[in-house]
Amino acid sequence: MSLEQAKQVAAYRAVDEFVTNNCIFGVGSGSTVVYAVQRLAERVETENLKVTCIPTSFQAKQLIVKFNLTLGELDTSPELDVTIDGADEVDAGMTLIKGGGGCLLQEKIVASCSKKLVVIADYTKDSKKLGDSYKKGIPIEVVPMAYVPIKNKIVAMFGGEIKLRSAVAKAGPVVTDNGNFILDWIFKNQDLDWDKVNTAVKIIPGVVETGLFVNMCHKAFFGQPEGVVIERS
Ligand code: A5P
Repeated sequence: MSLEQAKQVAAYRAVDEFVTNNCIFGVGSGSTVVYAVQRLAERVETENLKVTCIPTSFQAKQLIVKFNLTLGELDTSPELDVTIDGADEVDAGMTLIKGGGGCLLQEKIVASCSKKLVVIADYTKDSKKLGDSYKKGIPIEVVPMAYVPIKNKIVAMFGGEIKLRSAVAKAGPVVTDNGNFILDWIFKNQDLDWDKVNTAVKIIPGVVETGLFVNMCHKAFFGQPEGVVIERS
């Protein structure tokens, strides 16, 4: 079974367990979420479900439109029943690294408005400690003018090294859906208290959001190479 199939089984399982008629549903971002939207569209069609979808990114909005689902927004639907989203890494305590695709800010906003955040991932994202499997670091969304002082402050407080994320198809930095930059913090100490780190980083002026999701995840589904799904809650 391929990695894509492992993503698909996790996504299908989560949509089947958590999507109900009349629910307000947060649509995460990334490659695994594509399978969740696919399954949701099938269920809406065959079971005639009414589901309002709130996107966490430009990509998520495009998916909702492509699959003819009902597009909503936080202005009119500020309380969501569930958000299903991918993750870059999930540790044993259900702390997540998110933002590999640069959508962490809207993902965290939508998750924070949801009764439940459910993660879907392939087996490579399941780890004991953050940094065991995901080597690209913790994404941090920052206001462009402040990226250098923020970088210096985080390294002074917690060590490691920080790279300004660069675009692949253009010269220069990645600019997020919100017009900000992304720093990728390659931390060296895997035993940090992530709740405290998240709070300390967030209060640096110019930091918009971190890709650390602490105490937010209700349940995680990991698709396995042999096709089964491991659940953690
Ligand atoms: C987007 O910014 C991310 O948080 C994604 O949810 C995360 O990177 C997982 O993406 P994949 O499903 O593509 O692995």
